[in-house]
Amino acid sequence: MVFIDACFRRPTPYTPIWMMRQAGRYLPEYMEVRAQAGNFLNLCHNPVLAAEVTLQPIRRFGMDAAILFSDILVVPNEMGMELEFIKGEGPNFPSPITTQADLDALHVESAAEKLEYVYETIRLVRADLESQTALIGFTGAPWTLATYMIEGHGTKTYAVVKKMIATQPQFMHALLEKLTHVIKGYLERQIEAGVNAVQIFDSWASALEEEAFFEFSWRYILEISEYIKAKYPHIPVILFPKGISGYLERVRAIGGNFDVFGVDWSTPIELAKAKLGDRYVLQGNMEPTRLYSKEATRKGVEHILHVMNNEGHIFNLGHGMLPDLEPENAAYLVDLVHSLSKR
Ligand code: CP3
Repeated sequence: MVFIDACFRRPTPYTPIWMMRQAGRYLPEYMEVRAQAGNFLNLCHNPVLAAEVTLQPIRRFGMDAAILFSDILVVPNEMGMELEFIKGEGPNFPSPITTQADLDALHVESAAEKLEYVYETIRLVRADLESQTALIGFTGAPWTLATYMIEGHGTKTYAVVKKMIATQPQFMHALLEKLTHVIKGYLERQIEAGVNAVQIFDSWASALEEEAFFEFSWRYILEISEYIKAKYPHIPVILFPKGISGYLERVRAIGGNFDVFGVDWSTPIELAKAKLGDRYVLQGNMEPTRLYSKEATRKGVEHILHVMNNEGHIFNLGHGMLPDLEPENAAYLVDLVHSLSKR
């Protein structure tokens, strides 16, 4: 698989590409299936429909990898937290974690097993996917999941979870340890079900100052990665900590056993290459809103491919696809990356 070869820095005929949130609302065929499911969470719980929407962008655009269709928040959901997706507002946990009793009530040993519908989705996708196309499994990072579990929903200030860090750091660590344990079992089962690579999304990494990022987020991510790499050395591990361009020096100094570093759009690709490019394969990092214009897309692609020079690189967006993007521009992007990077 071209994508897996690129993850391990083996020669490839061109630079592989996939897009974060490549399955989703910008595709009319996704909207149809979601309507059939009734709502987003039902869609995640239905392996036949989740497999179908995983495959939709591959059929249409021919990316080099499919990403499992699910959501990072099914993990806290199966740890016992009620979850709802409110139209126009995003995810919501009506009873966030506030007390020791809430923490003690979380299911830690059974959660990974309860996610069986995810593993069934993986088996169905893998059976249908062509052999040269990789399937990527994923999880949220402990910190990003804990933020949702404590705040209850998305936040601009992170006031509740940061107060927790300042006043009850041990409580925070206890939650992060539980999540780390569940995630190890979750990724292992995804791999046993057939994913060819895994990505850890730390979407809220940038909420933390440098010290706090390494203490409350990165160390747990590395612990998960080391665990997976020890057991499954042939499975590439991709880490995507969003918005930490100022901390790359320290990421490098600490090191860690993972294969690919996901570069978000706010980090200049030149900087990521200079700090990490000889040590980790880089994935990214076109600004998603460039996809509103073919001209802006072309300039973005040319710049990133020029900097990376066909080496140690997987093309991706620097964050997810937006719901109002034109599918036609996604097709343009995939074809452009494939043709301009041909060796
Ligand atoms: O990338 C893919 O195509 C695979 C599917 C995927 C989804 N969510 C589907 C989804 C993946 C990998 C995720 C990860 C995810 N979910 C993250 C990490 C990545 C990131 O974007 O930073 C986060 C933070 C979440 C939590 C989440 N789920 C939010 C904040 C929202 C609402 C966002 C919005 O734009 O409304 C979701 C819902 C969600 N997850 C949708 C999709 C396709 C939209 C739901 C819908 O169809 O209405």
